[in-house]
Amino acid sequence: MRDFNEHNITQAVIDRFAGTPDARLKEIMNSLVTHLHDFVRDVEPSFAEWETAIGFLTRTGQMCDDKRQEFILLSDTLGVSMLVDAINHRMPEGATETTVLGPFYVQGPPEFENGADISGGLKGEMLFVEARVAAADGTPLVGATVDVWQSDDDGFYDVQRPELKDAALRGRFKTNDAAKTWFRTILPAAYPIPYDGPVGDMLRATNRHPWRPAHVHFMIAAPGYETLVTHVFVAGDQYLDSDAVFGVKNSLISEFPEHPPGKMPDGVESATPWRELTYNFGLKPLEGVEQR
Ligand code: BEZ
Ligand code: FE
Repeated sequence: MRDFNEHNITQAVIDRFAGTPDARLKEIMNSLVTHLHDFVRDVEPSFAEWETAIGFLTRTGQMCDDKRQEFILLSDTLGVSMLVDAINHRMPEGATETTVLGPFYVQGPPEFENGADISGGLKGEMLFVEARVAAADGTPLVGATVDVWQSDDDGFYDVQRPELKDAALRGRFKTNDAAKTWFRTILPAAYPIPYDGPVGDMLRATNRHPWRPAHVHFMIAAPGYETLVTHVFVAGDQYLDSDAVFGVKNSLISEFPEHPPGKMPDGVESATPWRELTYNFGLKPLEGVEQR
């Protein structure tokens, strides 16, 4: 076939994929071509605009390395990451809602006993965290792995502070016989997502801000259950309704009440005022797998 024009080229490209052996790949390519062509017909880009788009995607790729993933950031800021998350996490009653992983999780975090202080000596308001882990039906999950990571009082993760020699504000815990994990840390602050690349350029050009509301990340794993990736947000944060990556859900917002100096829930005395986060997590059972 020849003589392609704006009316017949879409079907011609779809036909060119007709021999794709993998049925799912064929379905994806057909849908991609359909929506991409419809987008171009809708927008009617000039050649200059098309070149700008190619340049933007080129810079996005060039910005990616083992530490920086600008394409995921683009997906996050376009709401695609949360859409994929929503489609893949239709949760049963009692299961905690999920949200984006983000770029600051580090594999193999330092392991701690319950009660440890993960602040690494960084300044901030003392925070006592207690996480209770159960299955969606309420069955307590003893020995679950609980990974936590968060920003500091200035809104930076440890990996953004080259002057820090050791990991800070991150760690791995196990739930005890009562299916609880607890530790000391500092109150996290709101922070901007990395905005020194093409995604930042897009945010500036569209008058959007790069801020995320303050939160503590949790990744919770137990045999027979879907690993839960979520975070708990600090109630009252000014960015809860305009999170740059669309990750906020009402069920994930918690009060972090302030207490005067005195005994914390594990009996340890605090000489300074302290904040508290207590959150009940529910894990979704894996289908077709026996739960232990
Ligand atoms: C985060 O919460 O760490 C995060 C998530 C998405 C993009 C940037 C940061
Ligand atoms: Fe974060």
